[in-house]
Amino acid sequence: MIETASVNGKITALAEATVPVLDRGFQYGDSVYEVTRTYGGVPFLLDEHFERLENSARLSKIKLSRTRSESLEEIKRAVTAAKPLAGEDVFVRFIVSRGVGALDLDPATAGPNTFVVIVKPIPPWKKDFYDKGMILFIPTIRRNSPRTLDPNIKCGNYLNNILAVAEAKEQGADDALCLSVDDKLTEASNSNVLFVSGSKVLTPLHEPETDTGNLRGITRTLLQSLCKEAGIVYEERPLRERDLEKMDECFVTSATREIMPVREIRSSSGPRHRFTEGGGATTKKLQELYGQYIEKYKSSHNAEAWF
Ligand SMILES: Cc1ncc(COP(=O)(O)O)c(C=O)c1O
Repeated sequence: MIETASVNGKITALAEATVPVLDRGFQYGDSVYEVTRTYGGVPFLLDEHFERLENSARLSKIKLSRTRSESLEEIKRAVTAAKPLAGEDVFVRFIVSRGVGALDLDPATAGPNTFVVIVKPIPPWKKDFYDKGMILFIPTIRRNSPRTLDPNIKCGNYLNNILAVAEAKEQGADDALCLSVDDKLTEASNSNVLFVSGSKVLTPLHEPETDTGNLRGITRTLLQSLCKEAGIVYEERPLRERDLEKMDECFVTSATREIMPVREIRSSSGPRHRFTEGGGATTKKLQELYGQYIEKYKSSHNAEAWF
């Protein structure tokens, strides 16, 4: 496929795409975005991604200049221009910035939106991450509080997550598992984190009234319903570093990582927590259920295929 971008409908090779320097996405990270992918040419959970984008825009007070169907048309044109081969799935990032404005924080000076679509191959995650699992490091930097910058705004300002992942990499880990400012577990830099304790699946609770929050991941929400159907207990609850001792398995979820095992969690002060390499029985079961869901989704949404 040809890595492709669309900027306000203008399609170019990705490396040649540009946005104006006065765009607020570039100046301030004043933008919201989504990442989705295709399976067998079928876009996966697109309605859920549009709903989350609209929610991020609402929370950021960004007025959307395009309707959902206008945005979808621009996405489809970009995907078509990328000319994916049959059977080759695509990664799609779509970004809405508040638009070009004066160098002034007042959002009223900006607009209409800049709408960017990026089409690329699915990220080639290391095979080892699935065969053995990732190593997460708990960095000193804390996850943004919902009372400062709500992690439920999937926005173009990822500096908090970037600093977390940089610290984790400096420690030889693959990714960060961030604590909140009130010492609770939140999420990894670009995925949700889940644990298996006995027969239960546990994941950190989003607590908007306090300082603990995480993004409502679409993959995690899907997993919640798959757990329900399979009779597996799924619970969102406040979790702390000391609770890691009680966890038997750990994995992260995101649209592109799907269900990726974690084999170890380290921190600078506490002990190392080790989990079954490659994921334990529940992680494997959930991977299987997820795979089956995708197969069903592909056949039931065949009419919506992009290519
Ligand atoms: C901070 C953060 N948490 C969680 C996720 C997982 O979300 P999803 O499952 O919708 O991909 C992402 C995905 O990009 C993310 O950036």
